[in-house]
Amino acid sequence: MTTHPSPRIVVLYATAQGSTRDIAEFIWDDLVTRGARAELHDIEHAPDLSGIDTAIIGSAIHNMDLLPEASAYLRHNLNTLTDKDIWLFTVGLAPALRGPIGRWVGRQVPRKIAATVRAVRPHGYVEFPGQYERAGVSWGARTMYRLLGGARYGDLRDWQAVQEWSDQIAASMALPRAQAISIHP
Ligand SMILES: Cc1cc2nc3c(=O)[nH]c(=O)nc-3n(C[C@H](O)[C@H](O)[C@H](O)COP(=O)(O)O)c2cc1C
Repeated sequence: MTTHPSPRIVVLYATAQGSTRDIAEFIWDDLVTRGARAELHDIEHAPDLSGIDTAIIGSAIHNMDLLPEASAYLRHNLNTLTDKDIWLFTVGLAPALRGPIGRWVGRQVPRKIAATVRAVRPHGYVEFPGQYERAGVSWGARTMYRLLGGARYGDLRDWQAVQEWSDQIAASMALPRAQAISIHP
């Protein structure tokens, strides 16, 4: 019987305030717990991609685009990335918007991000809600947020949604469920 080595995975993140890094770390930890060979890096310290089968790449959204370091990385490595299994996630406010208008707005992928997704052609793309602290947000931005159904501030992250996405990635690589791993030889 031939045994297939587990795929080599890299999880990369671009963050300004840390919430994208936490989500990347959660996914990395979940995959490692399932027995995957996975590394976690800030996108500015990404390792050489040779030998990597799967790259999971996350960026915070600022001004309706990825963080500049994530856009630059994807642009510079596009040719290398297109023959890998890529999963892309962004972290912003849209999934936290409520009400008919807020939900409609939340479903619209910002134009520049949509263009990046088309270029990278990831296996999967998702936007997760992040963190939004009220302090320091201008009156105009607060009003717009409220009108779009943004009712809450603070940590808006949805760990159940992150777990489900990680399950999807693991299933696509036929990795076992975390609780199915035996600690005994
Ligand atoms: C300067 C700035 C601009 C932002 N612009 C957007 C935006 O255009 N769309 C959005 O959904 N969220 C936007 N956000 C919200 C962030 O994406 C959100 O707070 C996220 O959790 C940040 O991730 P991080 O903690 O990894 O930096 C912005 C936040 C800041 C500070």
